[in-house]
Amino acid sequence: MATITPEFRFRRLRRTSVLRSLVRQNSIQAEDLILPLFVEEEITEPVAISSMPGVVRYPESQLADVVQRAWSKGIRAILLFGVSHQKDEAGTDTWNADGLMARCIRTAKQAQPEMVVISDNCFCEYTDHGHCGVLCEGSHEGLDVDNDLTLGNLQKQAVVAAEAGVDMIAPSTMIDGMVAAIRQGLDEAGFQHIPVMSYSTKFASAFYGPFRDAVDSTFKGTRSTYQMDPANGREALAESMQDEMEGADILMVKPGLAYLDVIANIRQHSERPLAVYHVSGEYAMIKASAAAGVIDEQAIVMETMMAFKRAGCDLIITYYAEQIADWLKAS
Ligand code: PBG
Repeated sequence: MATITPEFRFRRLRRTSVLRSLVRQNSIQAEDLILPLFVEEEITEPVAISSMPGVVRYPESQLADVVQRAWSKGIRAILLFGVSHQKDEAGTDTWNADGLMARCIRTAKQAQPEMVVISDNCFCEYTDHGHCGVLCEGSHEGLDVDNDLTLGNLQKQAVVAAEAGVDMIAPSTMIDGMVAAIRQGLDEAGFQHIPVMSYSTKFASAFYGPFRDAVDSTFKGTRSTYQMDPANGREALAESMQDEMEGADILMVKPGLAYLDVIANIRQHSERPLAVYHVSGEYAMIKASAAAGVIDEQAIVMETMMAFKRAGCDLIITYYAEQIADWLKAS
């Protein structure tokens, strides 16, 4: 039998681990990660989130320690979510200078001034109905969010966060015009230097299920009148390009793993830094299958992070941030 000779031998660069790392095209570092933190008012002990083992709602009194712990592990950015006990129709606590979000920002900045403190700018954890803005009469499908009334509230919220010392504003409402409104609001208040990381392409996704537990959401209904239809790839690009035009400093795709095509497409059309949100359902699925003993948790997480990098992300928002930082240190 004649020997068959391949045309090219890719395996030449796979022969040793040193060679493989020499030609590795992507890497993960703790500085690429953003850690989401849930802070609930009026509690004294952390509250476990059953669907997200390892993630808790922290009392305000522990936030400073948590920020310092994350910093010592090498985490350089946090994304703050408040779990409010002061809910009302419009979510007014979000623009109260002594409200939960403003207090958390001040506490985090005081604990570690160099930490990049990012506020999730939404209303759903502060409204009694759980929607991401001011309600209006919708179509036959029920109540809806009033786009333009919500824009004014977003401006107020962003300015209060900036006054409290936030380093970056991350609007997640998927309200049309949100980036332009926030940019204008910040600029007029003298915060030209504060960047906006827009949740620019955010889908109406079942992968947010466990997050609703995490923030103790009262929400019933659908966000499909403002968040994107998972079926739409072209619109996904248009949403992010619109936010870039409105002045977004960083774009984002959310959720992650089911939308790698969207990430790759935005990467090809924009030179802005691109973030991905590895969301609660993605976290919960890995944790549950690891607990069932059917996967290698660390290997699955690192492969997932690498997929985000390969698709074109610069930044990764993940509940695994601290664990990944620990793994990176140990390796
Ligand atoms: C608020 C918000 C949500 C998430 C982040 N910000 C929930 C939603 O839009 O319903 C989801 C985060 C996650 O699932 O990890 N609008």
